[in-house]
Amino acid sequence: MEEIVKKVILPAAGLGTRFLPATKASPKEMLPIVDKPLIQYAVEEAISAGIEEFIIITGKNKRAIEDHFDAAYRLEEKLKNSGKQQLLKEINKLNDVHFAYIRQKTALGLGHAIYCARPFVSHEPFAVILSDDVIDPDYPLLAEMVEIYEQKKSPVIALQEVPWDEVNRYGIIAGEREDRVFRISDLVEKPKPDRAPSNLAIIGRYILTPDIFQVLESQEPGAGGEIQLTDALRELLKKRPIYGYLIKGARYDAGDKLGFIKATIDFALRNSELAEGLRQYMKEKVADFR
Ligand code: UTP
Repeated sequence: MEEIVKKVILPAAGLGTRFLPATKASPKEMLPIVDKPLIQYAVEEAISAGIEEFIIITGKNKRAIEDHFDAAYRLEEKLKNSGKQQLLKEINKLNDVHFAYIRQKTALGLGHAIYCARPFVSHEPFAVILSDDVIDPDYPLLAEMVEIYEQKKSPVIALQEVPWDEVNRYGIIAGEREDRVFRISDLVEKPKPDRAPSNLAIIGRYILTPDIFQVLESQEPGAGGEIQLTDALRELLKKRPIYGYLIKGARYDAGDKLGFIKATIDFALRNSELAEGLRQYMKEKVADFR
């Protein structure tokens, strides 16, 4: 098996029901945090982890994503003529990146979305990023996970501690801890709090090995009637070790409205053009609450 992680799968075919009506005709991965769509943050994180090939799983609303990563000649011309060099640089930044698009015809679940990429991944490890799990753009999470993969030569899953009353929204693991790395002994999708083996939740960054496809091939639907990646990983765990990596920084569930608003505020506060105005506005707002 090839040992270098060169590919990333970016699933973007979910229905995004928590964000309707915004996601009725446009994928939630195109929602912007400040001025950049979620999926672009994910692509940039992958680039800084050394990823070279990008496979996007799209659903019925694929056009917006394809257009976003395509060249935009008329816009470029206009920016050039009006001397807006900085913006021009920004929109051209990913022009050399090549994307493959695969259609998931029906949103049967994350496990199924990943299975759809099988023809593009042969005997090599690959990364998966769920763009709606937003992290600090300066934090090289995927790069750290690639490093752990290189040591362990086994799948690595990002983890975060969540409040106990939220464990039923996540895949939850049990495992033995050594520093920030866990040797996983069990995984369970969306357990009730009294059934959860821990409050360590799986979040949207994975380094997987191609043997996951053999498991996904015959995976039955699980929680919510969807083909769950967590169930497939549980099956894979019978055959090989799987590791968890406790992330260091903040993470926002931008597929959820409140999580999205929090991410927007935090990212805006770190943006030199917006920080001062936003801080001032927030002070006024907080004063109103008193
Ligand atoms: P989520 O469960 O967060 O997304 O999937 P969702 O189903 O679109 O959102 P809600 O719960 O209805 O609001 C996590 C990731 O997996 C992708 C989603 O696009 C998202 O990036 N996904 C999910 C697929 O690509 N296909 C699926 O069948 C399901």
